Amino acid sequence: MSTNKVQIFDTTLRDGEQVPGCKLNTKEKLIIAEQLDLLGVDVIEAGFPASSPGDFISVVEISKIVKNATVCALTRANKHDIQAAAEALKYAVKPRIHTGIGTSESHIKFKFKSTPKKIIERAKEAVSYAKTFVDDVEFYAEDAGRTDNKFLAQICEEVIKSGATVLNIPDTTGYCLPEEYGAKIKYLKDHVKGIENVTISCHCHNDLGMATANSIAGIKNGARQIECTINGIGERAGNTALEEVVMIMKQHPYLNLDTNINTQLLYSTSQMVQQHMGINVQPNKAVVGENAFAHSSGIHQDGVIKNRETYEIMNPEDVGVDKTSIILTARSGRAALAYRAKNIGIDLTKMELDEVYPEFLRCADKKKEVGDSDIQKIINFSKIYSNRIAS
Ligand code: KIV
Ligand code: ZN
Repeated sequence: MSTNKVQIFDTTLRDGEQVPGCKLNTKEKLIIAEQLDLLGVDVIEAGFPASSPGDFISVVEISKIVKNATVCALTRANKHDIQAAAEALKYAVKPRIHTGIGTSESHIKFKFKSTPKKIIERAKEAVSYAKTFVDDVEFYAEDAGRTDNKFLAQICEEVIKSGATVLNIPDTTGYCLPEEYGAKIKYLKDHVKGIENVTISCHCHNDLGMATANSIAGIKNGARQIECTINGIGERAGNTALEEVVMIMKQHPYLNLDTNINTQLLYSTSQMVQQHMGINVQPNKAVVGENAFAHSSGIHQDGVIKNRETYEIMNPEDVGVDKTSIILTARSGRAALAYRAKNIGIDLTKMELDEVYPEFLRCADKKKEVGDSDIQKIINFSKIYSNRIAS
């Protein structure tokens, strides 16, 4: 059975860059864009050209260097923004304008002080105008997560008629439950005329920690694009993490979903984004965190040393991490100590292990983590060393 391709739309340089203190200059954005292209993302959202001259220039320069991915620029639903995006994208091989407007009751009432009818008109006008510049126009219904499904279906149908090629259904506030978000996508698939000719996109925020689950629910219900960022960075609690959704699809083949991502570049890309954006990846971050493949309890270490699959559901090498790490702490057993000693070239016999293990525990009680140099010292000061020299 052929797999279904899910497009990966990376918004690290737009939604991700909205994080306070994360502002990048054009040079840094170019380095990241080049890496994203290499990683195999299908779309790079390069910025919001009307927002500042710096963002405009960054989109121009990114458009010039990206070889494979579609380059996308964000706009609000007005002519000025759309013109700026079109101008900034003029060198892109595959340009896309991403335009849209808030569709929830609270956005219509408080943000726009408008009416649903007028919002539909603005949405149609924006899409039609964007179409005069590029073929590929993505429409976002901001706060779709809290938008009444019937109204959402209505506006989606209208923008498809105006030429939208992609429909972005953002859970802007990260409020939806996965079942709810999945049902929303299904509702649109069942009720919007012409939806079979466009791509439905999931854009989920992580305010309640459900961005990844919601994106997967969307895909299971027929969406075929996920908007995400490296390390899950983004407004407030962030966006869906690219590395998470990609690895979920890879590790669950029965879903029959696939991406173009070269997963072996995930860790290095994560490190690059961490370094340039100055936001540290939490150690327990799924897939790319420092501890994602580190085992410290004795029971787990013993299992992993016997067979990695006992406690690891993915191969670290598949995401570009060298190997599983066995962390030596006061909870580590003899198997872990023997394993780490072997890694530094010392093959301990069972008797030798019994000899050094109590000293290892004393050292581990004093320190949080026992390193290679500690192991070396423990062995050098034990009887093993003198016995080996004498024999
Ligand atoms: O979260 C959101 O709704 C957005 C849109 C601008 C696409 O980022
Ligand atoms: Zn967003």
